[in-house]
Amino acid sequence: MRKPKTFNNPERFVEGWYWVMPSQNLRIGEVQPVTILGRNLVIYRGQDKRVVICDAYCPHMGAHLAEGKIEGNELRCFFHHWKFDSQGICTDIPCLDEPIPVKLKTWPTAEKYKMIWIWTGEAPHQPIPFVPELEFQEYESLLGSRIITNCHPNVVMINAIDAQHFSTVHQLPLDIFFEKAELHQNAITFTKYKRGNKDPFFVKCIHLFNKNIIYQICYWYGSTFTLTVGPDFLHFYIMLALHLLENDKCETQLIFITKKRKGFTGWIINRLVLWLTSVFVQYFVKDDAKVLRTIRFDLKTPIKADQPIMQLISHVERQKPLMWETWQLARSRDVELKENQNKWRDDLTND
Ligand code: FES
Ligand SMILES: [Fe+2]
Repeated sequence: MRKPKTFNNPERFVEGWYWVMPSQNLRIGEVQPVTILGRNLVIYRGQDKRVVICDAYCPHMGAHLAEGKIEGNELRCFFHHWKFDSQGICTDIPCLDEPIPVKLKTWPTAEKYKMIWIWTGEAPHQPIPFVPELEFQEYESLLGSRIITNCHPNVVMINAIDAQHFSTVHQLPLDIFFEKAELHQNAITFTKYKRGNKDPFFVKCIHLFNKNIIYQICYWYGSTFTLTVGPDFLHFYIMLALHLLENDKCETQLIFITKKRKGFTGWIINRLVLWLTSVFVQYFVKDDAKVLRTIRFDLKTPIKADQPIMQLISHVERQKPLMWETWQLARSRDVELKENQNKWRDDLTND
């Protein structure tokens, strides 16, 4: 198998939507530093409640803008008080009558599932990840825990379509085969299409009432994925939003989703379903943690059962890769900066 260029590569990532933080962690008028995929950024919420994400360093002299303050919907740098609007355009330089045309880089943002999301390219051309079944439905969501694992997000992702490990790790002797379908360039689904003879007793019992149990995974931007699972009468929806951290670690935010049911009884059922979803997820996460702690992913010997994994890798490879500033690059830039500083110092001493 050819070595993938983007998949499991901490120096590249797919252009797309990535989760940043829970919406409730950013109040109106608040500014915070954030690091996304190795790049230092600043996030703030203006008086209009909209979230803005921009480069961390002021285009004047490089002060960190998280030291600044929010004025209306604009951000004023702490150092020389230059002010930038939500598009990053400089609107005020106190010592000049007119601001000069200087721009602070900003990124598209959105809020969904009680989370703040960033689009890592110029203009978003695909939606925020969603569960295919719920695309046109009203839903309710609940944020679950955050999990840090010792491997690249792509390696965490494949777990859900690794048919062999359902029996070996989770003791579920299911005969699972997947059918893939690409929703578009950035999203692919894998759906279980065959019920095995070796299904455990409780699965067979459910089959007495239901012709089938759905198990569908949808991968977005090679980073976030949704899981739809359950018998016909009750589908559970889980979103696992992943992003890369320093040292090739992965941070996963669990999001539980359910179809919105109306009225007070509906409200109670929604709470109950969301709670059941979280219990279900904990069961699987616990078992997988052991593998994800120590794995060094390298699919050297793929067999037929690994086909969905290879299909996912090829799907990731076909998406637009970005390399904005992963930690390796940031570190080499720091080294370069140090060398420059040393050169300056030497020049000064020679003079
Ligand atoms: S560094 Fe920001 S205004 Fe000077
Ligand atoms: Fe698993």
